[in-house]
Amino acid sequence: MFTKKTIKDIDLTGQTVLLRADYNVPLDDGKITDDYRIKQSLPTIQYLLDHNVKLIICSHLGRPTGPRDISCSLFPVAKRLQQILDRPVEFATDCVGESATKAAAGIKSGQVLLLENLRFHPEEEANDDAFAAQLAKLADVFVQDGFGVVHRAHASTEAITHHLPSVAGLLLESEVDTITQVMLAPERPLMAIVGGAKIADKIDILHRFIEIADFVAVGGAMANTFLAAQGINVADSLYDKTDVPIAQDLIRRAGRESQKRRFIFAIPHDGVVVHKIDKTAPTRIVDWSSHVIADIEQYPRRVPTSASRVHADEMIVDIGPFSGSFIAGGIQLANTVIWNGTMGVTETKSLQGPIGPYAHGTDLVIQALLGEFGHKPFTLIGGGDTVGYVEGRKLVKSFGHVSTGGGASLELMGGRTLPGVEALENKK
Ligand code: 3PG
Repeated sequence: MFTKKTIKDIDLTGQTVLLRADYNVPLDDGKITDDYRIKQSLPTIQYLLDHNVKLIICSHLGRPTGPRDISCSLFPVAKRLQQILDRPVEFATDCVGESATKAAAGIKSGQVLLLENLRFHPEEEANDDAFAAQLAKLADVFVQDGFGVVHRAHASTEAITHHLPSVAGLLLESEVDTITQVMLAPERPLMAIVGGAKIADKIDILHRFIEIADFVAVGGAMANTFLAAQGINVADSLYDKTDVPIAQDLIRRAGRESQKRRFIFAIPHDGVVVHKIDKTAPTRIVDWSSHVIADIEQYPRRVPTSASRVHADEMIVDIGPFSGSFIAGGIQLANTVIWNGTMGVTETKSLQGPIGPYAHGTDLVIQALLGEFGHKPFTLIGGGDTVGYVEGRKLVKSFGHVSTGGGASLELMGGRTLPGVEALENKK
């Protein structure tokens, strides 16, 4: 149960509200390529406007290199928000100072103002109290709804709460509630599918999943590091040498867990390899299952035959059909699945159709999660690249919960406290 006050617990009559959203959306040449985060902020905005508040929204976008890094301006977001809300959205060219104060004074009840990027001021990331005080002067109440940024202790997530009554928005409440519920009391069997590039970013959740899940499957570039940790030569594949000891530690821990209870830790048994990442390059399936070592301490390493080897100039770009089917089979038995990270290089576009040449493993996982093989579990999706991928395929609405948080969802799943949530007022 969410223990913080929300906008539903306070009297909003006649108030000016400063709403912190996470509008850190991907842009290509000034155009928004994925507006999922903007759309997910609508229920809170609508609730506040229905209560006739003066609404001032603030956010960061990207990691600006200077105070006026125009490539990180929130102006395109103001335009998109205006379109989606179908009502005018004013824009202030700074988030503090004269332009912000003037623009804030110019809006009436029921009107919306978006402030320029908070990170144009280094004081934002420094959690500077004087900067937070300047922001606070614009409003009577602070509402935190930027779930994607609450793992940061910044001026607009932490310091601001020392200056204004501070409560949660509806998106923040639903994200924290859903993720916490799935981690603490999932409908079992619980399966975790973890992909993406770096193990180091996901150590906490991998440990947590090994502790609480019934089945953990790894894919994506991080699986290459697990393969290397088992003594398999991954040749030119993307993998992180420094993460190999972490992977070995996780394999040992998984091995101990499966001696205690029914638990499966699955590292790919086969993969798709190419010489170079190019949609026209020929692919090859390599099956190294003959020499996969289940427990690095108990089993001697076996020497791979040439038929099951990734050649010197090849790289693994996707899980293979056996591994994909094994994961899809696991999904048939699961009632809850947490999915974070794609299974291969999904960014490479196909010559025809929506599924890229190295996205077949990810697509098989998606088909299984959507119930195409008979059983549809509740699926929680977290992590920027996975969400971007399912959003790009227009499948977001088909899953149980698709989180707007990247780092924030990982930290919450990993059992860490989120400073931007901690700082809000408790429910009585
Ligand atoms: C995100 O996209 O994960 C959030 O907006 C946080 O952005 P940051 O990693 O730049 O702090």
